[in-house]
Amino acid sequence: MLRTHTCGALALADVNKEVTLSGWVQKTRDKGGLIWIDLRDRYGLTQLVMEEGRSAAEVIEVARTLGREYVVSVKGIVIERVSKNPKMITGDIEIDVTSIKILNKSKTPPFTIEDKTDGGEELRMKFRYLDLRRNPLKDSLMLRHRLSLETRKYLDSQQFIEIETPYLIKSTPEGARDFVVPSRMNEGQFYALPQSPQTFKQLLMVAGYDRYYQLVKCFRDEDLRADRQPEFTQIDCEMAFVEQEDILNTFEGLIKHLFSEVKNVDIEKMPRMTYDEAMKLYGSDKPDLRFDMQFVELNELVKDKGFSIFDEAELIVGFTAKGCAEYTRKQLDALTDLVKKPQVGAKGLVYVKYNADGTFKSSVDKFYNESQLKTWADKMNAQPGDLMLILSGEDEKSRKQLSVLRLHMADLLGLKDPFNYKPLWVVDFPLLEWDEDTQRYHAMHHPFTSPKPQDIALLETKPGAVRANAYDFVINGVEIGGGSIRIHDRDLQKLMFKHLGFSDEQAQDQFGFLMNAFEYGAPPHGGIAFGFDRLAALFGGQDSIRDFIAFPKNNAGRDVMIDSPSIIADEQLDELRLKVVIPKKD
Ligand code: AMO
Repeated sequence: MLRTHTCGALALADVNKEVTLSGWVQKTRDKGGLIWIDLRDRYGLTQLVMEEGRSAAEVIEVARTLGREYVVSVKGIVIERVSKNPKMITGDIEIDVTSIKILNKSKTPPFTIEDKTDGGEELRMKFRYLDLRRNPLKDSLMLRHRLSLETRKYLDSQQFIEIETPYLIKSTPEGARDFVVPSRMNEGQFYALPQSPQTFKQLLMVAGYDRYYQLVKCFRDEDLRADRQPEFTQIDCEMAFVEQEDILNTFEGLIKHLFSEVKNVDIEKMPRMTYDEAMKLYGSDKPDLRFDMQFVELNELVKDKGFSIFDEAELIVGFTAKGCAEYTRKQLDALTDLVKKPQVGAKGLVYVKYNADGTFKSSVDKFYNESQLKTWADKMNAQPGDLMLILSGEDEKSRKQLSVLRLHMADLLGLKDPFNYKPLWVVDFPLLEWDEDTQRYHAMHHPFTSPKPQDIALLETKPGAVRANAYDFVINGVEIGGGSIRIHDRDLQKLMFKHLGFSDEQAQDQFGFLMNAFEYGAPPHGGIAFGFDRLAALFGGQDSIRDFIAFPKNNAGRDVMIDSPSIIADEQLDELRLKVVIPKKD
């Protein structure tokens, strides 16, 4: 037997037992005649002890040859420790080793396998299997496992069934680029990897499986960020015979279940906010509600006082940063630099300090006197000691710029406690959004989303104003999930494709299978998908999803451990009848 117990199991109750443990050598200490080894496995650490003269000579001899990360199996007797370590689960005992066997040697690892490691990102990615031995990563994967288990338990209890859908499919327009796979048997033709199982889950509703879910890999060829991977996992769900309210309630149940079972946190309120409200109050469709700093419009108070920038602006909007009136010139300049960055795009920042003594100091003192500034303070709910930060310009742009500043101020003020969870539903998204590059409307969620019935007439006259039965689930400023009530009527689906710029032939060619299905008794249906990696990262209190995925890609979309993507052999290309032509760069 290679082990009778794990390295996280033994306690005082086991004293005097003969045990066999196997694991990796975390650390050895050799002090004169006494040798200690910390033996590690997935479950914990156990201290081994050997003593020259008392332990067998060959045990001492082997122990002295052990390096870090050697794999060993030891036999010994559990004894009570003289100096106990309350920080270790097994800290009351140690193993008096009677025999020791090396199962495998290890080279010295390229970085230390400790909670805090000295290894850089790239090196740890290259040796991911070593990084995964560290506790923080192990804990993240354990958390992910718990979440998937509890997700399945909850959905099963609600009569959802898990059905797998294919990975080799035809492109579904979810907004990103497809990863494609050449077909050997169908020369010149390609499969696409699913950006989501969207059309399949809708077909399952037509088939009568009225509650479907799947923990499923999705693939999107898009620019990567901390919360985006080219392959990621969704909790993908669909329900038939439901309205939006039923879906929101069912999945509030899922989220509450996960928080209570996995984190022991009771989520009481899940407020709902319309998209318009979210944009108006926070300049974002995924507002972070851990802190206030709501936007206040100042147009009425500030125009026609001789300050041309405000006079010419469509919108003057600001928020109050509590307790920041004492910000220095340098701090205020840094805020101005931030909003003026090209990726933010503001022209400048107006500040008003409401000093603790009740006086005002602002960057627009030339144009506004103290009593005018006091009316701003009243409107913005500012108290003495607070700082008002104000942007102006085009409506939507100014709000988005101010949203960047709001999130930055929250960082500076330490208001982003990762374990303070503030979920909300954002509802009534616009159906379509205008795309400057292609000069046409795109589906904001996806083309299968149903418009609000009362807005359908606007499709012809004011497409941008049509609202959708679409919703996002947001926690702490992160879009965790999104879904919609779907179109289940062939004619309406056809009309949508028309408005999205598809000809009848293109629509039939790409989505004929779905529109045909709608002619065979499609029930009303809708659903949602949660970003499972994002949910795991959120539960783990981190912004990046990378460490909640066992083998993630780096920011260039590469797996540096297996060195992929890579070129393929000429024979493989021949078999696929493909030729790689890389044009020379000018
Ligand atoms: P959507 O495109 O909003 O909806 O995706 C659902 C959720 O998936 C997560 N997500 C990602 N996570 C990591 N890396 C990525 N590249 C990535 N892209 C998306 C987000 C997002 O909220 N078929 C629809 C769902 C539906 O309508 O039912 C869909 O895929 O958390």
